[in-house]
Amino acid sequence: MFENVQIAPPDPILGLTELFKADPNPDKINLSVGVYQDSNGKTPVLDTVKVAEKKILEQENSKSYLPMTGEPAYCAQVQELLFGEGHEIITSKRAATAQCPGGTGALRVAGDYLNMVHPGAKIWLSNPTWANHNTIFEAAGLTCEKYDYRDPATNGLDFDAMCASIKMIPKGDVILLHGCCHNPTGIDPTPEQWATIGDLLVENGVLPLVDFAYQGLAVGVEEDRAGLLELTKKVKQMLICSSFSKNFGLYRERTGALTVVGDSVEQASTVMSQVKLRIRYNYSNPPSHGGQIVATVLGDKELRAKWLDEVADIRNRINSMRHLFVKTLKDKGVEQDFSSIIEQCGMFSFSGLTKEQVDQLREKYSIYIVGSGRINVAGMTPDNMDRLCEAIKSVL
Ligand code: LMR
Repeated sequence: MFENVQIAPPDPILGLTELFKADPNPDKINLSVGVYQDSNGKTPVLDTVKVAEKKILEQENSKSYLPMTGEPAYCAQVQELLFGEGHEIITSKRAATAQCPGGTGALRVAGDYLNMVHPGAKIWLSNPTWANHNTIFEAAGLTCEKYDYRDPATNGLDFDAMCASIKMIPKGDVILLHGCCHNPTGIDPTPEQWATIGDLLVENGVLPLVDFAYQGLAVGVEEDRAGLLELTKKVKQMLICSSFSKNFGLYRERTGALTVVGDSVEQASTVMSQVKLRIRYNYSNPPSHGGQIVATVLGDKELRAKWLDEVADIRNRINSMRHLFVKTLKDKGVEQDFSSIIEQCGMFSFSGLTKEQVDQLREKYSIYIVGSGRINVAGMTPDNMDRLCEAIKSVL
């Protein structure tokens, strides 16, 4: 059976991590995968996570299966974080949440649900989008289409082109929107633009699927839900895939969720009954540990406040690197304008570096950047900035 199997191509993001790990250069810099590093280049475990884990270790008394939709206390915290305490969607119970293995797991479950229950519905992805979106949805059997997003001339949002694309999406299709900190560009619509997007989706009968993996990394945990809340004012039905990889640093614990918002409690629970089947066919029920950590931290007033401070530290460090990067390039006499990077938010920005320049950076300087030119700003540190900017100058 295996004689004729061809070797698979490396993953455009995680494949680079494998190369990075194998690189013996002690000065290597990893700006590829979206993982936060502190100013010492380490990916820390948050203090609040350590406290929660200690409590869990003492109190946990069973390793029996979780329900297919995960731990109810975790799902309730997910909804509160998405919509805010006391939001109408929560009080009217017209949202149903399933704990999933990471944001990726949530996206795949959503893709399977769409393919099985809404056959023929296509999914529209921003151009560009996270390199794994296409492959997740294609693996689930969906057809992916593109809508306009980034204006290459300004490295900002081309909102007119985005709206024109949305108007062309046929009724019954699905659009994937990035809740905040757009991956890979770092460019987000304003709340007013979100409201317009909501109007267009209602007019056209298009279902939004919001990928919300970076809440807290743009302006703040509460502020970052502004776009989603604008959308909820217009659109009554949606899917939301969220993740605690970045804002809790729980990458390897695979802690995410799929939330269904319906017109009514009955509708949300009917859709969730279908989602549950896709979960059962995929992995049966989710892993527990990450969800317990999140529920423990968010369910404790003091720990929650400390966690908000930790998220602020992460956000502020990334933003300070955006400024230092642009300034250092300028100080070194680089003429190309990188200033739009300061306006962008979250972990990523589009650098405008070409594939050839990215290859040179890796081959000559052991600097790892995704082929599209996306840089993980959270991998920059005050110590590696000089070397990074020198190298970029030399390949430009
Ligand atoms: C990224 O975009 O780098 C992250 O979301 C990690 C991943 O799985 O690709």
